[in-house]
Amino acid sequence: IMKILENVSLQNFSTIKANQSAKFMTRISKLNDLKNVYSSDLLGNTKKIVLGMGSNILFTSDYSGIILLMEIKGIKIISDNGSDIFLQVGAGEIWEDLVEYAVSQNLYGIENLAMIPGTAGAAPVQNIGAYGMEVKNVIHEIEVFDTKNLKSLTLNNKDCKFSYRNSLFKQNPQQYIICNVTLKLKRDGIPVLTYKALQEHLSDLKSPSIKDIYNTICEIRNSKLPDPEIFPNLGSFFKNPEIDIEIADKLKNIYPDIPFFRITSNLFRIPAAWLIDKCGWKGKKYNNCGVYSKHALILVNHCNAKGNEILDLAEQIKASVSQKFNIILEFEPHIV
Ligand code: EPU
Repeated sequence: IMKILENVSLQNFSTIKANQSAKFMTRISKLNDLKNVYSSDLLGNTKKIVLGMGSNILFTSDYSGIILLMEIKGIKIISDNGSDIFLQVGAGEIWEDLVEYAVSQNLYGIENLAMIPGTAGAAPVQNIGAYGMEVKNVIHEIEVFDTKNLKSLTLNNKDCKFSYRNSLFKQNPQQYIICNVTLKLKRDGIPVLTYKALQEHLSDLKSPSIKDIYNTICEIRNSKLPDPEIFPNLGSFFKNPEIDIEIADKLKNIYPDIPFFRITSNLFRIPAAWLIDKCGWKGKKYNNCGVYSKHALILVNHCNAKGNEILDLAEQIKASVSQKFNIILEFEPHIV
């Protein structure tokens, strides 16, 4: 028997705590729960959305469909050949718990992704990344529920079509629901220290351990990212835009201090935070929300903001970056 909650406030199910509600909500703790929802006469035609921790989604109005709260649990080693460890994780596990587990077992591959809010099942959707690491590098396979034929299906890494903050799942949000993720971690991994701030923090250590790396990432994140308990937020609100070499060269002439990362020989990625900062938005308040004072990429809910107030702020930021730099920013969170 499915238990359906009605008229649920979404503030406790969203890290930006936008003041919106959902008509229906049900908890999903096994694949069969999804089958039941999708084959139900009552709910078959109701619109549906899967929610993990709600750390990358913005509801801009009250949701008239049903929220499927992903709570499929479990972390287990399914295969271990001495050097590669295959870890199967339920989509509803908290990502940070998984990172802590891997670090405690000296399993390399996700230590740089410490403290990213969200669930294990949400991680592949936007191919989470930080400090030189992306989750796509350790994803072996993903078990999904295919809502078209109501069957489970296993996708390999290639099938998932990962790219920067993007995947098959982000492109087809209605078709596949991630139920279990299998990660391939390494016992004798090589630390990824490509990120400058990370190198600088670890420069005193000859060969930093996985725990040193983990602790350092936590320190860096704590120093510039807001605690969602105090400043409700969704992490980066914009993707870092790609620009080609001609535009990058022009910008470098005008702004010699502009940071950028080379992607290919004629493509660069520049930090949206820098662009937004240059437009004067950092620390600005706007109605009940605003831009975080220590990081321009993060929008915070100061006082019970509605979802559309936050979206409105994001649109204004986008417009001013477009006007000043002629660069079109894209939102990172899923806007509903
Ligand atoms: N910067 C500014 N002003 C600011 C903040 C940053 O000018 O207010 C400049 C910094 O000086 C730096 C550059 O922007 O040169 C990049 O900043 P940072 O190192 O903080 O990283 P980011 O590009 O803003 C990305 C990810 C983060 C991830 C960090 C660390 C995206 C959209 N964001 O941020 O991911 O934690 O790198 O690797 O790619 C997230 O996706 O929610 C997220 C937090």
